[in-house]
Amino acid sequence: MKDYSLLIDRESIPRHVAIIMDGNGRWARRRSLPRVEGHRRGAQVIESLMDTAIDLGIEVVSLYAFSTENWSRPKDEIAGIWRLLEMFFEANIDAIMKKGVLLRHSGSMRRLPASTRRIIEESVARTRGNRAITLNFCLNYGGRQELVEAVNAWAASKRQGEKLTERSFERHLYTAGLPDVDLLIRTSGERRVSNFLLWQIAYAEMIFTSVLWPDFRPRHLYRMIYEYQQRDRRFGGL
Ligand code: FPP
Repeated sequence: MKDYSLLIDRESIPRHVAIIMDGNGRWARRRSLPRVEGHRRGAQVIESLMDTAIDLGIEVVSLYAFSTENWSRPKDEIAGIWRLLEMFFEANIDAIMKKGVLLRHSGSMRRLPASTRRIIEESVARTRGNRAITLNFCLNYGGRQELVEAVNAWAASKRQGEKLTERSFERHLYTAGLPDVDLLIRTSGERRVSNFLLWQIAYAEMIFTSVLWPDFRPRHLYRMIYEYQQRDRRFGGL
């Protein structure tokens, strides 16, 4: 594969890259391993990607780690994902602080195990002053749920006669303050949005790859950023 890192225009890097990390289960099945082993390898990929994203100057990376629909999976797989997340934050918090990564959580904390919730809240609070990059973990996240919660939050905060605008509405989303998604990536060959950041991807470029998430490497991200830069983004204009 060509070294796309050398071809990338460092002046037009997408500000916000959102990733649907799909294919962990298939990766494991092909090796006759338990599905949770695929998730473990998937979590390792995130570690290696952080440096690449910082090096490129990407401002925000959103990761779809658990959807509101994932609760229908077997209990032991769900428990494995929470354990992996806790281990990820514990094992990486020092590196995260050193690299200047600001952590955020998008989604509902309801139904999350208390230990997972605690470690997310503590990690998010600890990194509040960091500025190198924002890593937005979308956990127990659903796009429709986010929109409904935002409408309810707006209605509860509504002052007499106030009209809703796109800007005032965005302040009630989980992603308040983050830029719109410029590039949406989905691995594993599926070509669906799957209820991910529905509002924020309005004008996102989408790139789908057959690579399974545990096999995703920095060279794949470089190639995708290059491909993104070849697209003509018109935002509805000419
Ligand atoms: C999709 O693959 C992946 C998930 C539903 C979970 C993603 C979780 C991780 C990458 C690990 C969690 C840990 C951290 C630190 C975020 P799939 O299981 O749907 O794969 P399949 O379609 O091949 O079955």
